[in-house]
Amino acid sequence: MPKALVLGGATGLLGRALTRVLSEEGWGVETLGRADGDVTNSAFLAKRLAKSAADVVFNAVAWTRVDDAEERPRQARLLNCALPDTLAHILKSMGQGHLVHFSTDFVFSGQGEHAWREDDTPAPLSIYGLTKLAGERAVLKTLPGRACVLRTAWLFGPGRKNFVQAILHKSRTADSVEVVFDQTGSPTYTLDLARWSLALAAKRATGIWHAVNSEQANWAELAAEAIALAGGACQVIPITSEQWPQKARRPAWSVLDATKLGAFLGQPPRPWPQALRDYLHNAFHTDDDA
Ligand SMILES: NC(=O)c1ccc[n+]([C@@H]2O[C@H](COP(=O)([O-])OP(=O)(O)OC[C@H]3O[C@@H](n4cnc5c(N)ncnc54)[C@H](OP(=O)(O)O)[C@@H]3O)[C@@H](O)[C@H]2O)c1
Repeated sequence: MPKALVLGGATGLLGRALTRVLSEEGWGVETLGRADGDVTNSAFLAKRLAKSAADVVFNAVAWTRVDDAEERPRQARLLNCALPDTLAHILKSMGQGHLVHFSTDFVFSGQGEHAWREDDTPAPLSIYGLTKLAGERAVLKTLPGRACVLRTAWLFGPGRKNFVQAILHKSRTADSVEVVFDQTGSPTYTLDLARWSLALAAKRATGIWHAVNSEQANWAELAAEAIALAGGACQVIPITSEQWPQKARRPAWSVLDATKLGAFLGQPPRPWPQALRDYLHNAFHTDDDA
């Protein structure tokens, strides 16, 4: 039975999806997170990695609070750059173990004319994007033959607060909700992403991969689709980013091109509205939240 260690696997939005899918697929799974000790301490991390001797380490720990990162760049760098760098160095010195690391569409500037490909030049607009870019570069520099970086985006799924869940929550008590329409990206289901991650891990894939559901959306479209699928009557009022000021700048256009992943899987990732239907259907029929 292959063994996996999932950083963030007990509590993170993606981490929990990874843990669930790995278990379903018959992997032996251990998780590592805040409750187990200080994952930013390299001695602690080295000890835990050696003890688990995992075939694949999935790193789903990150500083994901995009706006807060502007005011706490040191902490964002610690988790988004220093931690993956340390992980890669430890695995290198152990001489075994593959690393699957996750990054973001926010490494791009948002000034594009086509969906961003893996070899397009990143130009982050925020501290979050800068620290995530530094993290992916550190991983691939230190462990080029035993690591891959999966850039993903706009995650929804069970197990932790996310945009879709927040909108549905609000829509239950409000007649209308204002949502930004001038940012366009690639909404992605965590359980789909977890399955693609496993497929890539099983083949010990290396390099950068864009891992998102097909088809683009802006935030207002995603909100409207989620409310409609949930049978809600709340109206979505599209507003501009200027009308919804945030500390960190976001890319206006961050759609990721997942052609490379589709070729690997033998079919393109399914469209996000299909995946969203699954998420909401499962949430309705199980204990999953939405
Ligand atoms: N969510 C998105 O829309 C999105 C979009 C693009 C890319 N990504 C990338 O996808 C990956 C997973 O994101 P996510 O949305 O699943 O993140 P998340 O739900 O915010 O989970 C982050 C994980 O990191 C852990 N963590 C944070 N600070 C920590 C610390 N100081 N010590 C130990 N653990 C700490 C959290 O633990 P606690 O639960 O204890 O806080 C949690 O398990 C990240 O690399 C992110 O950059 C996410």
